[in-house]
Amino acid sequence: MSKNEDARFWDLARRHLIRYGGDFEPLIIERAQGSYVYDADDRAILDFTSGQMSAILGHGHPEIAQTIARHAARLDHLFSGMLSRPVVELAGRLAERAPGALERVLLLSTGAEANEAAIRMAKLATGKYEIVAFADSWHGMTGAASSATYCAGRKGYGPAAVGSFAIPAPHAYRPRWMHDGHWDWQGELDYAFALVDRQSSGNLAAFIAEPILSSGGVIDLPPGYLAALKRKCGERGMLLIVDEAQTGLGRTGLMFACERDGVAPDILTLSKTLGAGLPLSAVVTTPGIEDACHERGFLFYTTHVSDPLPAAVGLKVLDIIERDGLVERAGVSGQRLASGLRILQNRHACIGDVRGRGLLLGVEIVQDGRHSQPAPVLGAALVRRCMALGLSTNIVQLPGMGSVLRIAPPLNVSDGEIDLGLEMLDHAMTLAAA
Ligand SMILES: Cc1ncc(COP(=O)(O)O)c(C=O)c1O
Repeated sequence: MSKNEDARFWDLARRHLIRYGGDFEPLIIERAQGSYVYDADDRAILDFTSGQMSAILGHGHPEIAQTIARHAARLDHLFSGMLSRPVVELAGRLAERAPGALERVLLLSTGAEANEAAIRMAKLATGKYEIVAFADSWHGMTGAASSATYCAGRKGYGPAAVGSFAIPAPHAYRPRWMHDGHWDWQGELDYAFALVDRQSSGNLAAFIAEPILSSGGVIDLPPGYLAALKRKCGERGMLLIVDEAQTGLGRTGLMFACERDGVAPDILTLSKTLGAGLPLSAVVTTPGIEDACHERGFLFYTTHVSDPLPAAVGLKVLDIIERDGLVERAGVSGQRLASGLRILQNRHACIGDVRGRGLLLGVEIVQDGRHSQPAPVLGAALVRRCMALGLSTNIVQLPGMGSVLRIAPPLNVSDGEIDLGLEMLDHAMTLAAA
């Protein structure tokens, strides 16, 4: 019998865990190392989602383990009004690397928390309160972050924040707005903002955007879109918040995805990848915005703000990324993975689209590649097949879209591991089609 079927474990889980979304994998994960996680039978499962899209250095990186051990023993957590060297050093490093005049940093724990703080700063700095986001966005589960999250979780929790608006995300594979037979994302954006203007009470504070809408189906904003969005914000005195939870720290082949477009947001949020799997997030903004907020009494006093241990991990993550050239490597490995996926697309009619950047890729599963009919049952079956073969991928199922496999291995994934993952996907697709 498989050790994953441990009756006591599952009985405890059934009786005592709150179910927070979807089904749990029917596995007991005992350990994780490099690009693999291992179940109770010591079966190696290739982790093509970096845990929850976070473990960009793979699991159990020895230098991260050492940093954690050293800081746990020496300098772990402090009174929130105390500062330590790792916090100030990390703020300096992020300011050095961030685009534009983004120089002031707040260190927190989760992505939702960073977006919460960013939205509070935008409200305080502008004196306004309306927040606009994409209709396929995911910014987190806390109050303001979930009010700006439209791809899931809106029903049943009462009113979202007053002044929450959504616009459609530009979708190259499923374009909604055409002009002379061409996709016209600018026309769609113009119309969307015309509608926002109609609904606004004159209090537009900020737009919050992911450069690649990951949970929304790996929708990559087309080149030029972010700049156009920034212009729309500028015309209205709104701030642009860019949420690089998943795209930051090299994932797309650039340190920050917004750099491709030469756009510096007014506020940048980082999370998942910054701690490479440990809870660490950051808000990075301009001196002008930080000064304005401070003068107005900005308050974001949390238990784990400016904690030294996660900050030391963040510093080590940056050191490793820079020393090992992982930004460039993500670009090169991403090309290998994307071309492998395109070969699979020629082989399997269920692949409608391969998209994304660097090592954040989406594979849209449809009934037949030419007709782009969503195939949710096939998508779910495929993910189960992959897991049975030893490949962990993640799927998002959204109305009006096919199922989208999200593939985001660690930045230091080897060529061999990429090829193995592609082989398993190929095999799973062959089995699922049979
Ligand atoms: C783009 C983006 N922003 C924010 C969040 C929320 O981060 P957390 O779950 O750490 O609060 C997520 C989580 O998936 C995300 O993908």
